Amino acid sequence: MTSKHIMDTIYQVTAGKAMQDTYDQWAEQYDADLQQRDYRTPQRVAQALARHLPDRHAPILDFACGTGLSGHALRDAGFTCIDGVDLSEKMLRQAMKKGIYRTLTPCSVEQPFAAVTTAHRAIVASGAIGAGAAPMACLALAIEHLSKDGLLCVSLNDHTLEDPAFEAVITEAQGQGVIEILEQEHGPHLPALNLGAKVYVLRKLI
Ligand SMILES: C[S@@+](CC[C@H](N)C(=O)[O-])C[C@H]1O[C@@H](n2cnc3c(N)ncnc32)[C@H](O)[C@@H]1O
Repeated sequence: MTSKHIMDTIYQVTAGKAMQDTYDQWAEQYDADLQQRDYRTPQRVAQALARHLPDRHAPILDFACGTGLSGHALRDAGFTCIDGVDLSEKMLRQAMKKGIYRTLTPCSVEQPFAAVTTAHRAIVASGAIGAGAAPMACLALAIEHLSKDGLLCVSLNDHTLEDPAFEAVITEAQGQGVIEILEQEHGPHLPALNLGAKVYVLRKLI
C-alpha cells in the first residue's frame, strides 16, 4: 500500500489547528519536497518586490515565512532586514537555522499581523495566503496593516485563483482607493505539478 504524500492533500487542509499540525509535521521535509518540485514563487515574489522597493535595508515582514525559503529569496534579492512570522513553530525552527531573519515570531490565527510595525515598508506573503496556507481574511488584514506607501507582495496559486473572492479583496480595495496595483503577473509556482501563481505588488494609498 502506498501512503499519500502531504502535497497530495495540503490544498484541502482547513485553516487553523489542522493547518498548524500539518505544517508542524511537514517542517523537516518541506524544503526538500518543494525544491524537488522546482518551487519558483519565493524568487518571483522577491524579484517583484525588488522592482518597487529600491531600499534594500528597509524592514520587511515575511508573513507565513515557513522554513524561510521566502526569506532566502529576499536575501538573494539583496534585502537585509527581514522579520518572519508563522503559525507553525516547527516551521519557524527550520527558518531559524538559515540565519537570515532579524526576528522570527510565532503568530496566532486570531492575530496574524500582531508583529507588523509602522517601520515595516513591505509585507511579503509568498505561498502564504490561500489554498494550503492562511485564510482569505489574512489578505484583507495584510492590506489593513500596511502603512501609507507600504507595499504588499502576495502570491495566489491556481487553486486559490479558482475562488474569485480572493482577487475580489484586491479589486475592492483598489476600487475604494485604498491600494493601487503596481504589477500583477501570472507565472510558474510549482512547475513539476503544473501549477502557476499570480504575484501581485500592491501599494497602500491612505
Ligand atoms: C506553503 S507554506 C509557505 C512558506 C514560505 N512563505 C515559502 O514560500 O516557502 C505556508 C505557510 O503558511 C503558514 N500558515 C498557514 N496558516 C497560517 C496562518 N493563519 N497564519 C500564519 N501562518 C500560517 C504555514 O505554517 C506555512 O508555514
